[in-house]
Amino acid sequence: MNVKKILLPVDGSAHSDAAAEMAIGIAHDNEASVVLLHVRRAVPTGLGQPNADELLQYLTKGAEAVVQHYRTKLDDAAVDYLELIIGGDVGEVVCNVADVEKCDLIVMGSKGKSDLEGLILGSATHKVLHSTDLPVLVVK
Ligand SMILES: Nc1ncnc2c1ncn2[C@@H]1O[C@H](COP(=O)(O)OP(=O)(O)OP(=O)(O)O)[C@@H](O)[C@H]1O
Ligand SMILES: [Mg+2]
Repeated sequence: MNVKKILLPVDGSAHSDAAAEMAIGIAHDNEASVVLLHVRRAVPTGLGQPNADELLQYLTKGAEAVVQHYRTKLDDAAVDYLELIIGGDVGEVVCNVADVEKCDLIVMGSKGKSDLEGLILGSATHKVLHSTDLPVLVVK
């Protein structure tokens, strides 16, 4: 399998950290690059000002903090990467970015921040597995 670009969607959870370690290892071994993606909540339309701007600022700050954690890991491993923060539905955005960025592989956690006991798969990963034709490596 020729892996040159890996999509790594992250949410700051322990599962996501495990996925990041895996993606970094694969990128390193294959001289591949990583697309580091965090999907933030969308700002509802019709919220009005200054509420919309304030919410966007708040969400962007939170998203930056999530991304920073993985930026450090990628920098330490000297892996080439592109960083994206996009608002919307996680499953949809992941599949769209995988298409637009022409990724060869998606590496993501089996679960995320909710981490419900007894659940095998989170809803974001479930949706991606349903919607994409790309290979997906689901990391526990
Ligand atoms: N906001 C996000 N941005 C990017 N990737 C995400 C985001 N949320 C989840 N992911 C990815 O999806 C994986 C699984 O998380 P998911 O959200 O599906 O599970 P969960 O949080 O346990 O359950 P749920 O969100 O369905 O309540 C994460 O490990 C991460 O790789
Ligand atoms: Mg989640």
